[in-house]
Amino acid sequence: MAASRSKKKNPGRKPSAKPKPRAAVKTAVTRRTAAAAKPAGKSANPLGLEKKPPGQFDTLQEIALEAWRKMPAPVWDHLMGGSDSEMTLRRNRAGLDALALRQRVLVDVRNIDMGTTLLGQKLDIPVFPAPVGGFLSKVHHEGGPAVARAAVSRGTTAFIATAAKPSLEAAQEAVERRLVFQLYVRGDRTWIEGILDRVRAAQYGALCVTVDRNYYGRRERDIVSGLPVKEGFGDQSYQASLNWKDLVWMKERVGLPLIAKGIATAEDAELAVEHGADVVYVSNHGGRQLDHGQGSIEVLEEVVKAVAGRAEVLADGGVLRGTDVVKMLCLGARAVGVGKLLGLALSAGGERGVARMLELMEVEIRHVLGLMGVTSIRQLGPQWLREVPVLGTPSPVSAYPLLEEAVRTGRA
Ligand SMILES: Cc1cc2nc3c(=O)[nH]c(=O)nc-3n(C[C@H](O)[C@H](O)[C@H](O)COP(=O)(O)O)c2cc1C
Repeated sequence: MAASRSKKKNPGRKPSAKPKPRAAVKTAVTRRTAAAAKPAGKSANPLGLEKKPPGQFDTLQEIALEAWRKMPAPVWDHLMGGSDSEMTLRRNRAGLDALALRQRVLVDVRNIDMGTTLLGQKLDIPVFPAPVGGFLSKVHHEGGPAVARAAVSRGTTAFIATAAKPSLEAAQEAVERRLVFQLYVRGDRTWIEGILDRVRAAQYGALCVTVDRNYYGRRERDIVSGLPVKEGFGDQSYQASLNWKDLVWMKERVGLPLIAKGIATAEDAELAVEHGADVVYVSNHGGRQLDHGQGSIEVLEEVVKAVAGRAEVLADGGVLRGTDVVKMLCLGARAVGVGKLLGLALSAGGERGVARMLELMEVEIRHVLGLMGVTSIRQLGPQWLREVPVLGTPSPVSAYPLLEEAVRTGRA
């Protein structure tokens, strides 16, 4: 994850100097190696190992590696880091790694149905881009519309954040499918009414209120690097004053189904349902808010039990692989959000990068289900999981061994 790249260990990436895109470093190294290795008059690739054209990703790790090469170190740390000691961030991965999948064999798995629904809308894959606020426009000129188009092209939905650029309208206008709008409250009721009216007029399909950001997590990597992300826009105190009755009012005002994002206990799941949530979204903000919390997957089961079928359940937190998605589905999530992986894909390949990431997720999920002997995600449940000891040190990069190695050694 947030890389083990102290300034001393890796003088090439000083946050103080204008960070050098890793792409430049890589090109230099690749050129030198290729020239030295080329024997006169012979093919440069006697083993047939042709170099892929840039931007062609056959694996999720290539997407992550490309993002790592491209992104200046402080931006990488902002995306991949968490709050304070980053314990919640690591527990998201540790919780996923602590579960093994069971496999059954000799099942005809030529056809696998991984379709699901969200509030009655069909999703071809049980994965969607989570809201990642203003980050989109840090790494892409268009942000919201690009993510919306990529998601819809792969048959899924996207959550568009309040801070997404250029506007909430632009993202929804970019696609036919009705998306989900994610709200941060930065003003009084008149301010909220203004936003909710725009959400409705833009024809979003649902309102997602994020409830785990009443204070802005202390992301010390950003504080130390001086990356100007600070606490977002507007007056944060309105977000800090939110209560359950506000959710009821917002749902009435917008006239759309309500998603409560950031639920991490059975008690709050119960309250969310009581106050009209149609969807309970299990999340700890990717480990960016409360430190020393539980991993998302660790709380999923208690939330699903508390909801008891009265609302739909979504989840996110540490998801970087098809296996992660399948584990969350086994514990009762209907679909799973990706935050960091979305940021990586957008940085690595723009809109096409996000579409490719979702496609590769689909490939991975299909392989996982096939190898488990499962032909439909409806067959999934806790019976497919076993608790196991965690191997290695879980972190946001540990799901990708090549990336982990690159980050550890500093080699692109
Ligand atoms: C760079 C970044 C920006 C985010 N911005 C928002 C936001 O504006 N609104 C929100 O509800 N969640 C936000 N999140 C949290 C994500 O929606 C999601 O809950 C989280 O990233 C999931 O964990 P993962 O990153 O391990 O996949 C952000 C996450 C990241 C990484």
